[in-house]
Amino acid sequence: MIRPKTSAEIELLKEPCRIVRDCLNLLGEQIRAGMTTKEVDEIVYGYFRANGAEPSCLGYYGYPASACVSVNETVVHGIPDGRVIKEGDIVSVDIVAFKNGFHGDAARTYLIGEVSEEKKKLVRVTEECFFQAIDGLKAGVPLYDIGYRVQRHAEGNGFSVVRAYTGHGIGREMHEDPSVPNFGKRGTGVRLPAGTVLCIEPMIAAGTHRVKVLEDGWTAVTADGKPAAHYENTVLITEDGAEPLTL
Ligand code: MF3
Ligand code: CO
Repeated sequence: MIRPKTSAEIELLKEPCRIVRDCLNLLGEQIRAGMTTKEVDEIVYGYFRANGAEPSCLGYYGYPASACVSVNETVVHGIPDGRVIKEGDIVSVDIVAFKNGFHGDAARTYLIGEVSEEKKKLVRVTEECFFQAIDGLKAGVPLYDIGYRVQRHAEGNGFSVVRAYTGHGIGREMHEDPSVPNFGKRGTGVRLPAGTVLCIEPMIAAGTHRVKVLEDGWTAVTADGKPAAHYENTVLITEDGAEPLTL
């Protein structure tokens, strides 16, 4: 069941959202070839702690890090380790901060140096999918219009929509109702009430949409080894629009 937030709750949850936003902007300046994915995680942990936030992912069902750092064919939930980021990689970083009793969640995919035209287009289209999804989104819009718009834009550009993972509601819990698929039939699903807070997060693959999870139980890679990108913001639905809180 969707539980819309009160205006007092919204004020509280804006802070973890701002921390996530600022941390991702900082990473945009700092991430570069030669850095390990573990070093990216350390920047995130340090930034959160310096700003009085807890990393929500750390210890979540045993997840061993603060950030998910997913390189190239890794779609989501890449566990930071000694892997060295290289020129030509695309690296998605997905982070969730907990502060004031609420979570804020966002992800970006960074281009490392000169990357192929295909990867560049994949990252651009994945971001565009998010903006297509929130264009015209407001209270009263049916839930699955979000996925319909993401899917139309991704497939219209020759890419595929990962189905094994979805967006979600967020609040006092990292994952709340509803589940927000990145595909769907226009005009269907619950009509979103004002005050709903959603993580809208297109996960788009250059080849097949099928994924497999590695033996670590987390790392999700594309079944064909082709690259995938991820872009996410926490979004507040209001009477007259959709406000990304992590931009
Ligand atoms: N933002 C990711 C999600 O919504 C983060 C998950 S944290 C992890 O699923 F612990 F599951 F990795
Ligand atoms: Co996320």
